[in-house]
Amino acid sequence: MKHFLCIADLTVDEFEGLLNLAERLKKEYLSGGNKPILAGKTLGMIFQKPSLRTRVSFDMAMLHLGGQALYLSPNEIQLGKREAVSDVARVLSRYVHGIMARVFAYDDVLELARWSSVPVINGLSDYNHPCQALSDVFTVRERFGTLRGIRLVFVGDGSNNVATSLMFAGAQTGMDIVISAPAGYMPKPETVAKARQLAAGTGASISLIENPKEAVRGAQVIYTDVWTSMGQEAEAEERQKIFPPYQVNSALVALADPKAIVMHCLPAHRGQEITDEVMDGPHSAVFDQAENRLHAQKALVAHLLGGVPLS
Ligand code: CP
Ligand code: NVA
Repeated sequence: MKHFLCIADLTVDEFEGLLNLAERLKKEYLSGGNKPILAGKTLGMIFQKPSLRTRVSFDMAMLHLGGQALYLSPNEIQLGKREAVSDVARVLSRYVHGIMARVFAYDDVLELARWSSVPVINGLSDYNHPCQALSDVFTVRERFGTLRGIRLVFVGDGSNNVATSLMFAGAQTGMDIVISAPAGYMPKPETVAKARQLAAGTGASISLIENPKEAVRGAQVIYTDVWTSMGQEAEAEERQKIFPPYQVNSALVALADPKAIVMHCLPAHRGQEITDEVMDGPHSAVFDQAENRLHAQKALVAHLLGGVPLS
């Protein structure tokens, strides 16, 4: 594993190894602090979009491991505008030991990886959000002790970046992933096909169920995300009309397994895709989930920049 661009590119063992490393680094951190295994190492972070969790968790992950992160704002590099993506990759990789990029077009992350001589980490693109899904299955495993056979129902825009990466992460780990979305917002057939191909080797399943009430029956995890992702603002009004039946509220949660947890990658639009009652209620795992971004990010940089082996 040279880069971390898409969960579908990893082997099952690599993915599990990252989860195990995140667990080990979390324990180490909580029992007194991490060892400075990244002393002298640096991570350049390119952002084309805003961020709280991704920016701060990578920054703190580097700091806790003895390294340093450099934030490059949307106006700084102007990827592809001020300078070609390939030139940015070749210059930046002479200064830093790793690059994390949050971009609009997934192709830009691929292009960075193609030209970079240091590892590239995809910190969200329009197509996928692999750091989020890595961290999320880590949270599910922590809560349930296993991933095999856990039914995770994603309710909302099934065609978005978070749903895509969750399908791949679930497929890598034997989960039963259900996408519940309005017609027109289901994942692309090629994405489903790719996830099912991965699932064939792990006993995972990927299903699409339009009706959210039917979909959440027996769910151990209900997952939601914003109806309008960054970059889709022009569609917001239309989406507000289509998505209300997909709101994760108490009535919907009541149809799931009584011990179900509710997850959201955040930021949340309270009162839209999730109600205050659910987000602040007993089923909510959202803040533990947000915390775990820190621990999952550490696993990524420890392995990719620090050469810590996966086992
Ligand atoms: N979940 C997530 O990636 O949050 P940010 O957009 O704040 O980084
Ligand atoms: N789907 C959301 C996730 C934000 C972390 C977006 O892309 O805006």
